[in-house]
Amino acid sequence: MADIEVLQADITQLDVDAIVNAANSSLLGGGGVDGAIHRAAGAELLAECRTLGGCDTGDAKITGGYRLPAKYVIHTVGPVWHGGSRGEAEKLTHCYSRCLEIAAQRNIRSIAFPAISCGVYGYPLEQAVAIAVDTVREQLNILPGIQRVVFCCFSEEVERLYRDALTT
Ligand code: AR6
Repeated sequence: MADIEVLQADITQLDVDAIVNAANSSLLGGGGVDGAIHRAAGAELLAECRTLGGCDTGDAKITGGYRLPAKYVIHTVGPVWHGGSRGEAEKLTHCYSRCLEIAAQRNIRSIAFPAISCGVYGYPLEQAVAIAVDTVREQLNILPGIQRVVFCCFSEEVERLYRDALTT
């Protein structure tokens, strides 16, 4: 079984094979973690993203990491929170499982996730954290090769929620 870690950090600094970007469906950059990743990776990342034709909510696409320590960026599009009745939970679950599936296909051994949809997209934190932890645990049982998963948190509050979810 892979190691699951919780770190309070800037995801752009992490030395892992792949980091996940919480993008929007254009894949052409934005604010939050998306903006930070594009700034740190440099203009070549945006140039590669322009070739991808966008991405559906719940799906994911992979690019190089360019100037990042990480070799790859897996861009996923989380759902915008609309109260929970518009398939948000299924879409968020799919984000985590697609990212791990793509990682396994590329023989990626270590991957870091931000708290997808928990910023601008407004997903309630506790519910999003439960989905992240449950989906990653489930997928790791069926995807060999991934040895390390990091939940990268930007605040102490988010870090605490992940630690709590992982101990239950
Ligand atoms: N490292 C790790 N986590 C971060 C970082 C960072 N450098 N910066 C922010 N976070 P958000 P979303 C955390 O808003 O809700 C963008 O404009 C942040 O504190 O980045 O999925 C896209 O282009 C929060 O916990 O993503 C989309 O339009 C989490 O990352 C939209 O925002 C996600 O917050 C996506 O919204």
